[in-house]
Amino acid sequence: MLGLATGSTPLEFYDEMAAMHARKEVDFSEVTTFNLDEYAGLGPDHPQSYARFMREHFFSKVNIAHWRTHIPNGLAADIPAHCAAYELAIVEAGGIDLQLLGIGSDGHIGFNEPGSSLGSRTRLKTLTEGTIRDNARFFDSPAEVPRHVITMGVGTILDARRCLVLAFGKGKAAAVAAMVEGPVTADVPASALQFHPSCSLLVDEAAAAKLKRADYYRWVHANKPDWQRA
Ligand code: GLP
Repeated sequence: MLGLATGSTPLEFYDEMAAMHARKEVDFSEVTTFNLDEYAGLGPDHPQSYARFMREHFFSKVNIAHWRTHIPNGLAADIPAHCAAYELAIVEAGGIDLQLLGIGSDGHIGFNEPGSSLGSRTRLKTLTEGTIRDNARFFDSPAEVPRHVITMGVGTILDARRCLVLAFGKGKAAAVAAMVEGPVTADVPASALQFHPSCSLLVDEAAAAKLKRADYYRWVHANKPDWQRA
């Protein structure tokens, strides 16, 4: 079971998965997915909804059954009940094996903005003005970015068996450093991943630029025992 993310960061990942599927190297027929988040108020056909994003960039390109894909419903009438049902559905499907994550420039994961409880579950959140500005590039204007979202909580994310965080570009460097080397704090929700037993981070040089121990991480990589390289 896969936990999936949206944003520009995972696009190459989805392209690669689709290419591997086209080459018959990977089969999604038995895969179940749960997405991290959705804008409240946007239906699945809205061009900026994450449901539409996932259909366009991934689901339509692989053999994944629609009924196996799950995204919070931005139009849910009873949001707390919908969030509780989303949590239950994850558990009933067996839990997330691998959660794919991007990171916001303010250190958010999913849409868990700074100040989110590190034990939070799926719920309604209000976006910060910074995230609205960051995400406005996908909309006609910042005023059109919804103020509210439904997102898995930090606690929901921490329950995944493995996490893979992708971060590219210098705009993510401060958030990456705070996530990896800063104190664990609700001020940087991604820092909660320091408690995760199996979390990998994949960065480019620009996103790694503010890591104090970058040389050590390279040294660790260069000296991995063979059995860890598989
Ligand atoms: C949104 C999503 C996050 C994503 C973040 C970064 O806020 N809810 O899941 O990680 O944006 O987006 P991008 O990858 O476009 O930088």
